[in-house]
Amino acid sequence: MAEEKIVVVDFGGQYNQLIARRIRQLNIYSEVVPYTISLDELAKEEVKGIIFTGGPNSVYLDSSPKIDKKVFTLGKPILGICYGAQMIAYLLGGEVKTAPTSEYGNTLLHVHDGSLLLKGVHKETNVFMSHTDYIARIPEGFVLTSHTDVCPTGSFENVERQVYATQFHPEVEHSVEGQKMLENFAVNICHCHQTFVKSSFIQDQIEKIRAEVGDGKVLCALSGGVDSSVTAALLAKAIGKNLTCVFVDHGLLRKDEAKQVEEVFGPNGKFDLNFVPFDASELFYSRLKGVTEPEKKRKIIGSTFIEVFNEEKKKLGQMDYLAQGTIYPDRIESGLGISATIKSHHNVGGLPKDIGFKGLIEPLSYLFKDEVREVGLQLGLPKELVYRQPFPGPGLGIRIIGEVTKEKIHIVQEADAIFREEVRKAGLEFKLSQYFAALSNMRSVGVMGDFRTYDYAVVLRAVETDDFMTARPSCLTYEFLSTVADRIVNEVKGVNRVLFDYTSKPPSTIELE
Ligand code: XMP
Repeated sequence: MAEEKIVVVDFGGQYNQLIARRIRQLNIYSEVVPYTISLDELAKEEVKGIIFTGGPNSVYLDSSPKIDKKVFTLGKPILGICYGAQMIAYLLGGEVKTAPTSEYGNTLLHVHDGSLLLKGVHKETNVFMSHTDYIARIPEGFVLTSHTDVCPTGSFENVERQVYATQFHPEVEHSVEGQKMLENFAVNICHCHQTFVKSSFIQDQIEKIRAEVGDGKVLCALSGGVDSSVTAALLAKAIGKNLTCVFVDHGLLRKDEAKQVEEVFGPNGKFDLNFVPFDASELFYSRLKGVTEPEKKRKIIGSTFIEVFNEEKKKLGQMDYLAQGTIYPDRIESGLGISATIKSHHNVGGLPKDIGFKGLIEPLSYLFKDEVREVGLQLGLPKELVYRQPFPGPGLGIRIIGEVTKEKIHIVQEADAIFREEVRKAGLEFKLSQYFAALSNMRSVGVMGDFRTYDYAVVLRAVETDDFMTARPSCLTYEFLSTVADRIVNEVKGVNRVLFDYTSKPPSTIELE
């Protein structure tokens, strides 16, 4: 039998990935599937339990996503969360109504006696609510297991039918005892074995890659980022010299970054593979000359990258497979998400799939970022690389407002290196989710010694976020910011002003372009 798992059925909620992550934290395998999944899939023996996620819709609309009612006859334990709970109520004959005002945020939950899902939870516990519709009447045969001061139905269950539901979100951190509830569901109700160990992941993948690739040659586009580095390290362990890693330096990397990639993966590094570095910076600079529009810059960098990579590939002879560092959230987002294009993102690993390979190897495609990092450490990658903060594919190209020039790249690299060094010294590295220096296109008048200057203004950005979809500016102290600003204006030629970007996302974004 395949590995036992809890299946998270996605109805469009914001926290669907988080649910699967929380289950995996219990050492139980979990994956997210679209709500259109067939009942045959859900009926498989390895599916030990099913969770319906939240979602933005109202269940009583015909157009809202729903699952076939026969799901309740499969004999699998089911947990509905928020929209999922409302859908259970609706499908089984309860009543869902819309409230005049939404209930949003931390709420005190009053827990009733005797619930299996809420077993061991305090009688009063804080949970996170986010809903406008509410369950006015639970279906017949069900027991109400909690309520809040404004919401009559906090949770309900029918032990015999193995159906459980919570209006609140147990998966988010604000639900203080939420993990206990998920554990009750997965372990006590679904009887999962908590045997999903990631340490076996590496060995399993090595065997899988060897079986698939045989003596074939694999090409990997290395960016120096966490995902492509872990992919390369894993493949190197599996197939050694049959792996070729091409590292295209677009000249838009942070200070010394190309050197660090070479140290880890180059001939003197610890992995046995073919490392092919290629310095394409001049080509990228020439293509970017005179271009100021952000989307145009992104597109030029993305397409030039593919072009250079293809040229390099041609020189390498027959390559059978392309390895990519796709991770689980990438798959979920591209497979299920419907969202407006704010920026055309480009990943260094994100190459078109039709460039002449027999197949695609994506060994990390079932892992979340924290799991990828764990695997990276186990493979012996340096901690600095494994915990590297996110860095966008187009690199400094989108951290320089306006035209990209060598002078500006140099300024931003130096200022950024100082900022990062000071963050490290202050022990803030793991508190901040992302922090960097960018270059505003603004020049202004200053005075240095007895002379007038007319130089650039550097922008410092530091944010805290869990999901990078929203972010808040970090509250760095004035003392700390002054130290950084002083060092930058003193040490980086061409800068006479340092600004701190104090905006949240939304309305701004993390990167400046
Ligand atoms: P924004 O600027 O959209 O960024 O708030 C959110 C997160 O995504 C990163 N980012 C990118 N990552 N290719 C990437 O691989 C891109 O084109 C790209 N643009 C933004 C950004 O650094 C932040 O972590």
